[in-house]
Amino acid sequence: MRAVDLINKKREGLPMTDDEIRFLVSGFVDGSVPDYQMSAWMMAVCLRGMTHHEIAALTNAMACSGAMVDLSDLSGIKVDKHSTGGVGDTTTLVSAPIAAACGVTVAKMSGRGLGHTGGTLDKLEAIPGVNIERSVDEMIEIVKKTGLCVIGQSSGLDPADKLMYALRDVTGTVKSIPLIASSIMSKKIAAGADAIVLDVKTGSGAFMETLERARELAATMVNIGEKLGRRTVALITDMNCPLGRAVGNGLEVADAVYVLRGEVKRGDPLRDVCVLISAYMLMLGGAAKNIGEAKNAAERAIASGAALNKLREMVEALGGNGSFIDEPEKLTRVKRIYELKSRAAGHVRSINALDIGVASAMLGAGRAKKSDKIDPAVGIVLKKRVGEYVGANELLALMYVNDDTSLEESSALALKAFEIGEKPTFVPPMVYETVTAENAACDLESACAPIL
Ligand code: URA
Repeated sequence: MRAVDLINKKREGLPMTDDEIRFLVSGFVDGSVPDYQMSAWMMAVCLRGMTHHEIAALTNAMACSGAMVDLSDLSGIKVDKHSTGGVGDTTTLVSAPIAAACGVTVAKMSGRGLGHTGGTLDKLEAIPGVNIERSVDEMIEIVKKTGLCVIGQSSGLDPADKLMYALRDVTGTVKSIPLIASSIMSKKIAAGADAIVLDVKTGSGAFMETLERARELAATMVNIGEKLGRRTVALITDMNCPLGRAVGNGLEVADAVYVLRGEVKRGDPLRDVCVLISAYMLMLGGAAKNIGEAKNAAERAIASGAALNKLREMVEALGGNGSFIDEPEKLTRVKRIYELKSRAAGHVRSINALDIGVASAMLGAGRAKKSDKIDPAVGIVLKKRVGEYVGANELLALMYVNDDTSLEESSALALKAFEIGEKPTFVPPMVYETVTAENAACDLESACAPIL
């Protein structure tokens, strides 16, 4: 087999065999396929698309390119969740403890934030003492004790994705649904899950800006899961506005604790999305028969304090100080809290998630590049949500600041994020659609559209 023939084949839009896809992926990882040939092939994928069968074969080849986590020592169905990334998106810290409190086994590897989006690892590390750099064996031991553990991704996992993603970043091949779907799902499959709940974000602060693209990504990932024997459900949720009120690492841990303490009412976007995600985790994990039963169980886990206890148990098992779960305000002590006030009176028509994410990152809550250090205490807490009325000079948000250097630029951006208008606005739904094996099934051999 020759890589150049496979590039030609994809350029002509012809479907590739599993062996051909495996040849390219394993050759790229072992160095026998050079990066210029992998780049050319990925560009051909961008322009020509792939069938669902090819995407599943690509995912499998990537997942098998390195170590595969074996969770068979743990009893029960192991359920993972993944969010495609957003602002104020603290769903793992709420839904994973709820699912574990309801008896679902959750052994999960998470990522860090980059750019305007947050990452679960940075949030966990905001809690003093927490060490997320654990071996798979340590993760399994913690799950045996608590039913729940979230750690950083092991370095030997899915090397193909690491190499391909680095190449995509510099060759204009990031925005291809077959490549995005196989990148996300190969990491989930290598991490050992039996079942996966996906939260695909759409809107101005998301990777998938339109509902149509989010729907296509969701269906593609659900199809991959089903083809590779993992039950998979995807929710498509809104990321035009930040999901939670808090944006910033310690602030988001506090937000998660408030939801788990039962202090946040139904109708709150973060609470509602988390309850739905955990309900699907319960269904896939065999802990509930239908969505109504699953939601009730999730609500009971909040009301009884069982889910909050799970979070505290996990934090302590990771070496963290559990008292920060009881008093999360200790995580957000800063030199100064700046009050962001509205210049005009009116209705909040939108809050741009991207702008709020970038404004928070400017204060030190996020990274512009991987090596940047983050400040766990800083960030932004929204005091008004979309649909609410604000008076002139009334508070829109609180900005938690340790270093004033970027405050002027950050506060100007945060103010610009709020669109205030005379007329009230329609508040968009937080959950647009649920994509399951049944409604995503379509024709598994059909072509996944090219990006152009
Ligand atoms: N997240 C991933 O893990 N991979 C992509 O390609 C895009 C988002």
